[in-house]
Amino acid sequence: MASSEGITKIVNAAYSERSAKGVDANVSTAVASAVGYSTTELASVPSGSSLGLSCGTPVKDANLREGESVLDLGSGGGLDVFLAADLVGTTGKVVGLDGSKAMVHLSRQNAKAKGVKPPHVAFAQASFTEELPIEPCSVDCVISNCVLNLLPDDGKALTLRETYRVLRPGGRAHFSDIVAIRDIPAELKEDPVMHVNCISGAISWQKYEDLLRKAGFIDISFSNVTNGLSACCTGPLQLPKSDGHPATETISSFDVDKFVASNRILARKPESPQEKISSTILKQWWDAYPLVNSSPEAMTAEEVASLIRDPSKNVEDFVVVDVRRNDHAGGHVKGSVQCPAQSFYDDAPAYFEKFKDTEKVIFYCQSSNGRGPRCAGWYQDYLDSVGCSSSKAYVLAGGIKGWMGKYKGQHDLMDYD
Ligand SMILES: C[S@@+](CC[C@H](N)C(=O)[O-])C[C@H]1O[C@@H](n2cnc3c(N)ncnc32)[C@H](O)[C@@H]1O
Repeated sequence: MASSEGITKIVNAAYSERSAKGVDANVSTAVASAVGYSTTELASVPSGSSLGLSCGTPVKDANLREGESVLDLGSGGGLDVFLAADLVGTTGKVVGLDGSKAMVHLSRQNAKAKGVKPPHVAFAQASFTEELPIEPCSVDCVISNCVLNLLPDDGKALTLRETYRVLRPGGRAHFSDIVAIRDIPAELKEDPVMHVNCISGAISWQKYEDLLRKAGFIDISFSNVTNGLSACCTGPLQLPKSDGHPATETISSFDVDKFVASNRILARKPESPQEKISSTILKQWWDAYPLVNSSPEAMTAEEVASLIRDPSKNVEDFVVVDVRRNDHAGGHVKGSVQCPAQSFYDDAPAYFEKFKDTEKVIFYCQSSNGRGPRCAGWYQDYLDSVGCSSSKAYVLAGGIKGWMGKYKGQHDLMDYD
């Protein structure tokens, strides 16, 4: 089989293709029902969130409570994230991570259809061969459905250590995963199609348990889910032809149940009162939103000051937007409108309605290195997506820090309210 990097690439390509092409609704419903999802559960999530890729029902087993925080590793179309979100309610939080950009895009579209958004429900792209972009001790429960088997061996060990790190003391891991029940023959192990279909990367429960123990987990248990695997291979994945791999025959010619079985895996992080619990889950809030495509131009403080001082200029010419959250009252650019960065992406359509007839929309934050350019970029991306050229995003170079350095005490350029 390929190197760790090669495995990750092949898996990413196969799942990205599934997310883009989708799957026949009859197939996804057949798989989901066979692995234990109820009709009521499936009816409660957007149709594109179930892609026939699950091998169990970790949410059902996790006994989630109102207000809990949950992390789903390999969240796919978002099926388990949405079910978990309903259980933890609006006081809880659920984050789904997936390595496929296309999958994350799909799950965010599904979140929109379901009417949920960050920080209650967030999806971010992350590769499980690296440290997770998640705060330590921030989640009550980590779930995962048919994912660990897809990782290279070093990725499996790392992801279990990372799962331990992000769990709060006493927190729990509830995984559904494929486990090897006998040695998988070399020809299956070497077959990339068998790998992306969750078979040849499976390890024995003894090896899995050893990795969990080494990561620090206690109360580890495995239980065989007998109706799992044949069902979840009903809609097998092929490798994208464009990747140079032959489109291999489907895996239906193998009796996969001889080699692997779907398991319910539970583990717990021991209590440790001295560990500090984090109330935010994602290390960087902006990971919950798409990357910026555009690169808005900068405007110097002098250029912006001359616009403000020009009595012939009005709201059709320019508006200055402060994307800081808490520090507007401590001094801001005269007349600037406050639009907090943390909710900017979700509110972009409303900001567009407000500013679409304004020629220059000038964004700033503290030093205009992070939030300012990001929001300017999201605004410009939105303008581009709707084909609007009457408005354009800019970034105030140097942010409020640079502005105050130049104009502090000049009442025609600074406001304090
Ligand atoms: C079999 S699908 C399961 C999807 C989802 N949990 C479900 O039940 O519908 C596996 C998911 O894990 C993701 N994945 C696989 N390897 C990954 C890796 N190395 N890093 C991040 N995500 C990965 C894939 O992109 C895919 O969405």
